[in-house]
Amino acid sequence: VSPAPRHILVIGIGPGDPELVTVQAIRALQRVDVFFAPDKGEDKDDLAELRREICARYIEGRPPRLATFPDPPRAADGSYRAAVDAWHAERETLYARAIAAELEPGQTGGILAWGDPTLYDSTLRILERIHSRGELALEIEVIPGVSSLQLLAARHRIPLNRIGESVHVTTGRKLAAGYPVDADSVVVMLDGSCAFRHHLERDLDIYWGAYLGTKDELLVAGRLRDVAARIEALRSEARRRKGWIMDIYLLRPRAQ
Ligand SMILES: C[S@@+](CC[C@H](N)C(=O)[O-])C[C@H]1O[C@@H](n2cnc3c(N)ncnc32)[C@H](O)[C@@H]1O
Repeated sequence: VSPAPRHILVIGIGPGDPELVTVQAIRALQRVDVFFAPDKGEDKDDLAELRREICARYIEGRPPRLATFPDPPRAADGSYRAAVDAWHAERETLYARAIAAELEPGQTGGILAWGDPTLYDSTLRILERIHSRGELALEIEVIPGVSSLQLLAARHRIPLNRIGESVHVTTGRKLAAGYPVDADSVVVMLDGSCAFRHHLERDLDIYWGAYLGTKDELLVAGRLRDVAARIEALRSEARRRKGWIMDIYLLRPRAQ
């Protein structure tokens, strides 16, 4: 007989505010025998601290076991696609090794995903690849979370879409390469270099937010060409002070 599968709960924990963790996520946290967390280095200690805070607040009784493993740095050279593929393959091996070593068949492992696990998060892809290799039987369950995209809209008190229009979600890298064709509202995540700077000639509004849901939250809204410099200055000052930044923004043509 083949051994019982290992259960893996991928739990969306929201964008940073412990009050934005769902009831389902809280229940899921309590079912976990071992948490798995890639170690992302010192810069993001604040994020590790927020994760610890969420666990301490919502897990009653015995403290759960935490298994950390190194998170390989993404190669800076070569094509973007090739570098990401190699990085994923390496992470896949490290995840598989940690799960096999730390979790017994039949036990439940937990992976906390920032925001919602289905949006710009590679955990589900990595787990699916491990499972499909067939060496390690996994039963994967996903608990949705509040995404930073939703919190951005809530903080600015705006709907993400305009009436009957679409919402395009993309990355800073893609936005720097070109403005999406026929897009109305464009949400930009994972932008390390203020890609909105490439589109100042367009008459756009921007709704920007950084460290949403945390005590350091920053918000700016306005006509892009009027507020772009302020956002860049705020962003680089905050990044210098804290050592890391997480920001997200929505762009759309100004209403006539
Ligand atoms: C790897 S993606 C993960 C997104 C996440 N799964 C979600 O649903 O929000 C990281 C990006 O999400 C955005 N992000 C996540 N949390 C945020 C927060 N608290 N404040 C601002 N942006 C955030 C940023 O654009 C960041 O670069």
